[in-house]
Amino acid sequence: MKMKIITSAFLAMSLMACSEKSNINKDSDIESRVESLLSQMTMEEKLGQMNQLSPWDFEELAARVRKGEVGSILNVVNPEEINKIQKIAVEESRLGIPILVSRDVIHGYKTIFPIPLGQAATFNPQIAEDGARVAAIEASADGIRWTFAPMIDISRDPRWGRIAESCGEDPYLSSVMGAAMIKGYQGDSLNDPTAIAACAKHFVAYGAAEGGKDYNSTFIPERVLRNVYLPPFKAAVEAGCATFMTSFNDNDGVPSTANKFVLKDVLRDEWKYDGMVVTDWASAAEMINHGFCVDGKDAAEKSVNAGVDMEMVSETFIKNLKQSVEEKKVSMETIDNAVRNILRLKFRLGLFENPYVVTPQTVKYADAHLQIAKTAAEQSVILLKNDAQTLPFTDEVKTVAVVGPMADAPYEQMGTWVFDGEKEHTQTPLKAIREMYGDKVNVIFEQGLAYSRDKNVAGIAKAVNAARRADVVVCFVGEESILSGEAHSLANLDLQGAQSQLIKSLAATGKPVVTVVMAGRQLTISDEVEASDAVLYSFHPGTMGGPAIADILFGKVNPSGKTPVTFPRMTGQAPIYYAHNNTGRPANPTEMLIDEIPVEAGQTSVGCRSFYLDAGNSPLFPFGYGLSYTNFEYSDLKLASDKLTVDGEVNVSVNLKNAGKYDGTEVVQLYVQDKVGSVTRPVKELKAFQRVELKAGESKTVTFTLPVSDLAFWRYDMTYGVEPGDFKLWVGTNSAEGLSADFTVID
Ligand code: GLC
Repeated sequence: MKMKIITSAFLAMSLMACSEKSNINKDSDIESRVESLLSQMTMEEKLGQMNQLSPWDFEELAARVRKGEVGSILNVVNPEEINKIQKIAVEESRLGIPILVSRDVIHGYKTIFPIPLGQAATFNPQIAEDGARVAAIEASADGIRWTFAPMIDISRDPRWGRIAESCGEDPYLSSVMGAAMIKGYQGDSLNDPTAIAACAKHFVAYGAAEGGKDYNSTFIPERVLRNVYLPPFKAAVEAGCATFMTSFNDNDGVPSTANKFVLKDVLRDEWKYDGMVVTDWASAAEMINHGFCVDGKDAAEKSVNAGVDMEMVSETFIKNLKQSVEEKKVSMETIDNAVRNILRLKFRLGLFENPYVVTPQTVKYADAHLQIAKTAAEQSVILLKNDAQTLPFTDEVKTVAVVGPMADAPYEQMGTWVFDGEKEHTQTPLKAIREMYGDKVNVIFEQGLAYSRDKNVAGIAKAVNAARRADVVVCFVGEESILSGEAHSLANLDLQGAQSQLIKSLAATGKPVVTVVMAGRQLTISDEVEASDAVLYSFHPGTMGGPAIADILFGKVNPSGKTPVTFPRMTGQAPIYYAHNNTGRPANPTEMLIDEIPVEAGQTSVGCRSFYLDAGNSPLFPFGYGLSYTNFEYSDLKLASDKLTVDGEVNVSVNLKNAGKYDGTEVVQLYVQDKVGSVTRPVKELKAFQRVELKAGESKTVTFTLPVSDLAFWRYDMTYGVEPGDFKLWVGTNSAEGLSADFTVID
């Protein structure tokens, strides 16, 4: 989807404003322009570029900009204010270097898209790209040219609230979706006025916080870093991501903001990255809390010597590094390289030629944007259960009871990390069902509970009564927005408040119950799934979640979402993910569970395998799982050859049939197991997927061409490559089911 923005007279005016002040040759390429400008800068001006502020007072900000003490700002979103501050930078500071304006535009700016975890459930990178492009167009209309997204932390513990912002548990899916978001944010060229620089975050392994408790320490060894946590960031570099952000966590005792191994050895030396690295919010100064730095000066020195270019808000760089250079604790070369990376980004963004807002305000909530958001929401919804074809509603459904605290919760529906979306624009399921299907069915609405944490059960009776008067009940439950996102860890993943009681009370009426979950993470909903006839999981679907869910309930849209994370049966199973190692004692599917164990059972009579007596070993729903209104049949899996060389390709084909009566889309998934390795390998890993649309009754041969080199991993000797040997592959509808075939890679 391409959108061109008409430039304005403002653009013409700004073309002149910059060139005179900076005394640089506008026709030279960017590197020579960087060097030319750098050569004119004082030490104070260099440190000013490395300083990012989240300002409270405009006049104080203006004064510091005039003095060249500010390279970037975040959390200023008024275009007039931004143009004013930019004019001061360009016309009143000594060198006229424009300010880089940033904001957390995580899943939409005004038009809010499904949370990234929901976008990952689409297994559709085009959805992610289109959503990011819309966000960039809307955000740049307010003068924002840098977003702190995509967040591509591998997340395998739903107790961690930031799983909501991630693309889930799988390195391949996160790599594909993250790269697509970067492409959407940055567009075809960074100097397009609607392009905003992307930021790969949080570098690195932040999602492995011990216990799923945010900001907690991580203990990921280099081999697992390289095989699991780094790949999405490498993909971000290959996608041209303009910036990186360091993470809050200390990994194996080293805070990422001072981790030379990841910031220099990997990012710069191995990946040849030439973008800009920013700390997370005060993460430099917070190394004092970590007990890694004695004071701000120590924090500044360790950060820049490790490879950080810009400091977000804690101002240890600007306060200390001049002295650090004088004391030779930091080299001038280090400072200059950091400033080069910052100036290079500003040149690439075209800020010197085009520092002012030119995008018209009319782009916000444009119909085209809302339609793209609706499509994203539709494809993010996962059909987890559909007994007796409860869904979609047929013409026999004349009265629908709409119930639950999330049925008409415009703010909560947007999810976490929504600073600029406006709940007034949210279209809730209740609103949508009434407006879109109110002529087909009679809608009865009884909330039952006022909000997701509500323990007051007084309203449940009315909801039950509404259910009794209806042909079907749709109960919207889940999480308020505040319950996921940064710093919002949970030790218990059960539905909050009296939501579970509400669902069970509705089920007791004997009416068909459709449960729709809007949440920032996967929740432990075994009982509620059991009590419901059908279950839709929509994470937090954003502005257009209502119309999307309405069209799914009434069959205009056939759900196609797949779980981007593994759903645990009990919180205690976390962290839980499909690509786990087998261990020496893998569980059997038929392990005796706690209620089956006889009294005075002998010490070794149960298990001796790797599983939980109370929860077993299997998840509630595996990674990649999602049903359809139709049913897809897989047959005739074939390999062109089952003996491959390391430089060869695995050519796979499978027949897929839509054997049902609805047109639909299936996400066909390809997994591979490396049966024996120089180190233990996951039981399987996602290597490819395709969204395949088939009309009712239609069949198609789906093919994959997988380079054997994609089976490479970081081996025992810490070299990267494919190890010849026996492999197994599966092609199927999720990570737990599929047709399989064996093949061998020979030397
Ligand atoms: C926050 C987050 C980071 C965000 C930044 C700026 O603490 O960790 O993801 O981009 O600060 O808001």
